[in-house]
Amino acid sequence: MKKQNVIVIDFGSQYTQLIARRVRELNVFSEILPHTISYEEVMKNNPSAIILSGGPASVYEKKSPQIDDEFFSSEIPVLGICYGLQLLVSSFGGSVVNKGHGEYGSALLHIEKNCRLFENLSEDLQVWMSHGDEINELGSEFNVIGKTSNNVIGAIQHKSFPLYGVQFHPEVVHTEAGKNILYNFIFNISKCKSNWTAENFIFDAVNEIRKIVGETEKVITGISGGVDSSVVGMLLHKAIGERSICVFIDHGLLRKNEAEQVMNSLQKGLGLNINKYDNSNLFLNALQGISDPEKKRKIIGREFIRSFEDASVCFKEIKFLAQGTLYPDVIESGGSALGPAVTIKSHHNVGGLPNDMDFKLIEPIRNLFKDEVRAVGKELGLPDFLLNRHPFPGPGLAVRIIGEITSSRISILQEVDDIYINFLHEYGEYDKIWQAFAVLIPIKTVGVMGDARTYENLVSLRAVTSIDGMTADWYEMPYDLLSECSTRIINKVKGVNRVVYDVTSKPPGTIEWE
Ligand code: XMP
Repeated sequence: MKKQNVIVIDFGSQYTQLIARRVRELNVFSEILPHTISYEEVMKNNPSAIILSGGPASVYEKKSPQIDDEFFSSEIPVLGICYGLQLLVSSFGGSVVNKGHGEYGSALLHIEKNCRLFENLSEDLQVWMSHGDEINELGSEFNVIGKTSNNVIGAIQHKSFPLYGVQFHPEVVHTEAGKNILYNFIFNISKCKSNWTAENFIFDAVNEIRKIVGETEKVITGISGGVDSSVVGMLLHKAIGERSICVFIDHGLLRKNEAEQVMNSLQKGLGLNINKYDNSNLFLNALQGISDPEKKRKIIGREFIRSFEDASVCFKEIKFLAQGTLYPDVIESGGSALGPAVTIKSHHNVGGLPNDMDFKLIEPIRNLFKDEVRAVGKELGLPDFLLNRHPFPGPGLAVRIIGEITSSRISILQEVDDIYINFLHEYGEYDKIWQAFAVLIPIKTVGVMGDARTYENLVSLRAVTSIDGMTADWYEMPYDLLSECSTRIINKVKGVNRVVYDVTSKPPGTIEWE
């Protein structure tokens, strides 16, 4: 069966990732490409349909983002959303203007019933708008298939090509029938088959790995104990068996007792043959005196690669390194398909990699979001405790020890983290939370314990809920639990006399503090 692929062309909308996610939720693969890409490049991806995202620009501005005209005359269905709709209109000689007032938030759309985009929907739809510009002249090639109660053109259809445009955002949950509209576009209009399932993903990934690695080459597979690298380890094992050499680097910034737990669960539990190297001295020496978060991340990225290179010497001439890079790692490191995106932070396995690296990378889950990786892991038979483990970043406690990293600060944070995470398990909170951890803050505060003055460290507890880590809400932990956990930490961890709880969502914060 033809691999279905819905390409989302990004014009800089804050909702672009959401469009790709919504399509994948319909079990059709979708990836995001930048608007600077040519028609020929997009065609290499064999798209079944194309969605043009919204964006902050105005199509009538001189340097506004455009795409090749061929997109509009091929038989591949196109859905333009917001800016995407305006681009369709201006490409066919219509005009878009700013009338000095826009539509933001909820709006009522009256639709043309006999249109495939709106099949099986009621005549009046609650939709979510976010636009200042609007269609002024539609031109002769399109029909209006929806108007808002403000008399703004809300949806259009080309008279002969399969081109559709909506001024509203079907990808956000506030558009009530948004998912049905995307369903109609993807299945009724574009005739996609829903074959993006964990099972098919595994089948494709295994074939792809075999194709890249060939019949004889070996691969170093970086393992951390988290779900991402475990899934990668399983995929490589399935694809090339013992030619995948799993390497676990202990960088000294793991949680308390984590190295042993990882070895136990992966080696004994999953039957992967893992080679463990304790390189903590190398990492900690390289990090000495470094406080800047981006510098820490780059040093760790570099030391990881050097460690894998050293390990590979023992196994002779290994060209490939497999690692568990995820889609959000790519996006946030600014090295994404999205073109010149800003770097939020250099994820150790993407933006933190050294330029002079010898390995060719194999990244089978590079296009997946975290929840999709979990679905693949489940299909591969990973045990629940591994699947449901909270994410732990590659740079480990280095990005949770704000400021300088020293052995004593690592020990303090390991103790606090251990108490906090065990506490969450004990009170049945762990599985309600997407990620929880503690942060060591580089200031001391005054306290009083046993009638004596203390001047000790401050730690922050963080817990968030999320689906894929791209956005997150702080978790509303019950006050009595926060209070008890705080007391437990202060009573048990020497060197800590104050605990605070982080109530920042993402955005505006990020999940990790560095
Ligand atoms: P942020 O802090 O960017 O984190 O909101 C989103 C998710 O990514 C994890 N994270 C990383 N994972 N290498 C990783 O493997 C990294 O360099 C890295 N930085 C952040 C973070 O723990 C959260 O789950």
